[in-house]
Amino acid sequence: MKLNLCVLASGRGSDLRAIIKASKTGIIRSWVRLVISNNSKSGALKIAKLNKIPACHLSHIMFSSNELFVKEFLRLLKKYKIDLIILAGYMKMIDPSIVKKFRNRILNIHPALLPKYGGKGMYGIHVHQAVINSGDKITGVTVHYVDEIYDHGAIILQKHVKVKEGDTPETLRKRVLRTEHKLYPEAIKMLETNKINAGKRKVKK
Ligand code: GRF
Repeated sequence: MKLNLCVLASGRGSDLRAIIKASKTGIIRSWVRLVISNNSKSGALKIAKLNKIPACHLSHIMFSSNELFVKEFLRLLKKYKIDLIILAGYMKMIDPSIVKKFRNRILNIHPALLPKYGGKGMYGIHVHQAVINSGDKITGVTVHYVDEIYDHGAIILQKHVKVKEGDTPETLRKRVLRTEHKLYPEAIKMLETNKINAGKRKVKK
C-alpha cells in the first residue's frame, strides 16, 4: 500500500530528509505529499522546497482561534489526500480533535526507549542528558502512535543504541539520530504492509 504522508516538523528536518530519501530509493512506497512547520525558518521547510514538496508554514499565532487553526490544518490534509501524519521533531501538541480524526494514523519518533525518558520537557538534548545522568548503558529510538498524551501512544518499533564510555549528550544525540533515520522508514514500511500490531512492542537489538 502506498500512503500519502504529511510530515510535521519544527526544526532541522533530518528525519524528514531520511524519509524522502527512503521514498526515492524505494525503501518505502509512500511519498511525502506535504510538509507543515510551525517555524518559518525551519530546515524542514527548506528541505521540502529543495525536493519540490508542497511546504506550508502554519502556526497557531496566524489564527484568531484554535478552531480556525485546526480547520485550516484539516483542509490541507484533505487537499493532499493525506493517509498518515508523521511527526518529525514537531514541537507542538496535536489538537485532540485531529488525534481523534486520525486515530492510529499519526506517528511520532522519540530519541529514547519509551516509556523511559518521555513526557513533557523530554525533548532534544534534554533526553540524552537525562540518559547520561542516569548511567544507563543502553538507550535507543521509539516510533509510536500519537494519542492525547505526550509520548504515550502504542509503541510500533524500538531499536537499541549503546551509550559509550565518554559519551556527551551531543555525541549520543548524533548516534541516536543515525538510528532514527533508518527506523522511521522501517516503521512506515510496516504500516504499508500491514505488518503492525498496535500495542505490541517490537524491539530490534
Ligand atoms: C529527533 O531527535 C526526533 O527524535 C525528535 O526530534 C528530533 C528531530 O530531528 N522527535 P530532525 O529535526 O529531524 O533532525
